[in-house]
Amino acid sequence: MKVLILGGCGMLGPWVVKALKHRHEIILTDINPPDDGFDGEFRQVSADDLDGVVATAEGCDAIINLSVLREDRRLAFDVSTRGNYNMMEAARVHGIQRVINTGPHFQLVGETYENWDFDLKPDMPPQFGTRLYAHSKGLGQEICRVFSEQFGIYVITMLYYNMRHTWNWGLGRGIPEAVHHEDMTPFTTAWTDCGTAIQAALEVPLERLPSRCETFFTFPETPHHKFNSEKTRRILGWEPRYTLETLWNKEPMTPPDHLHGAW
Ligand SMILES: NC(=O)c1ccc[n+]([C@@H]2O[C@H](COP(=O)([O-])OP(=O)(O)OC[C@H]3O[C@@H](n4cnc5c(N)ncnc54)[C@H](O)[C@@H]3O)[C@@H](O)[C@H]2O)c1
Repeated sequence: MKVLILGGCGMLGPWVVKALKHRHEIILTDINPPDDGFDGEFRQVSADDLDGVVATAEGCDAIINLSVLREDRRLAFDVSTRGNYNMMEAARVHGIQRVINTGPHFQLVGETYENWDFDLKPDMPPQFGTRLYAHSKGLGQEICRVFSEQFGIYVITMLYYNMRHTWNWGLGRGIPEAVHHEDMTPFTTAWTDCGTAIQAALEVPLERLPSRCETFFTFPETPHHKFNSEKTRRILGWEPRYTLETLWNKEPMTPPDHLHGAW
């Protein structure tokens, strides 16, 4: 497939490119250029630029949105809410059938669920809580749903808790380098598994999806089943390579997974 990636030069982008590059044709876009080592096609496109997103999406079979901006709340809505509108409009204009959206778990299951409940499922009615970041993302997801319903576009939303392995990218906290050996939550997903989850969403036959708008959790299974990722395994066939136990014990990544974000 020919795939447009929005916001692909952040923490997740290289892992998605790594999972897809030998199987699909990628147009990588972002407002910032990729790090050294990326040798594919890159275009500077802002997710909040409707004309730019529509023009770049021409001829694509799928769009993957990895763009996010957390710090500045006004820009957050431009990127995460308006950006999703632009992505869906581009899909509509060009008849692109498959869109993959990403975000944090709390754009669906915010504090009201997370603080109190177990066995949270991705088909629950959204309640994204009161944080502005969650609202910018949750409203973006709602835009996807409405476009999907109106124009029959398949939207697959992949939700993450946090992404780490034996290191955490310090990005967004003013630390340009990876921070090693930080502890993680039980809901952490290893970098490489974050990338293969997007691959699974891109390659799942559309007729396997129960509806045109589906949301999936992408966490390794935990013994207490706080979040239930069963649907992700059953429908997308995604199995994380790294489990809670291996992540908790900081089992080293094996090549080729060990390279920190190498494209
Ligand atoms: N990193 C995590 O632990 C984590 C956890 C949960 C969910 N997520 C989700 O995963 C996805 C990817 O996140 P990430 O961790 O790679 O984020 P990131 O901040 O590392 O990368 C986001 C990218 O978006 C780009 N961007 C910002 N403004 C843009 C604009 N106007 N147009 C186009 N691109 C723009 C940035 O330049 C950056 O490259 C997001 O949807 C995020 O909500 C990430």
